[in-house]
Amino acid sequence: MHPAEILEQECKPVTLFDKKLGKLLDDMYETMIEFDGVGLAAPQINIDKQIAIVDVDDHHGTIELINPEIIESTGNQTGPEGCLSFPGLFGEVTRAFKIKVRAQNRKGKSYEMEAEDFLARAIQHEIDHLHGILFTSKVSKYLDEKELEELNEE
Ligand code: CO
Repeated sequence: MHPAEILEQECKPVTLFDKKLGKLLDDMYETMIEFDGVGLAAPQINIDKQIAIVDVDDHHGTIELINPEIIESTGNQTGPEGCLSFPGLFGEVTRAFKIKVRAQNRKGKSYEMEAEDFLARAIQHEIDHLHGILFTSKVSKYLDEKELEELNEE
């Protein structure tokens, strides 16, 4: 939870792809589900490593991002965003509409993926966490509950 120093620090790359890493990813998944999030980054559970997960819907499943890098980004989108480290806080954030990401999976295998729209937003939010960047530094306008509801109804 904000405020915490670890949330604003650069995370260290993962070099060891062992069973412990798999266990950590499984634990992160459980935490994300428990708190009804669509993503979670390791520093949010007090681990300063470049590890994040994103799960926006059943179609895309759980995306495991280890040492992720955005290698291409195009367009932009502005929409509401929240963060498990800031319960109850929502704001409008502008991000790239479409991205290409290079990352490693839990076995250390490198992969690339493309994402757009809300999935791209969630991935960019989580990758920011790994560099100590919080969504509050990008909010153009904070939203109260009523404004959020109106946006969700659209
Ligand atoms: Co967050």
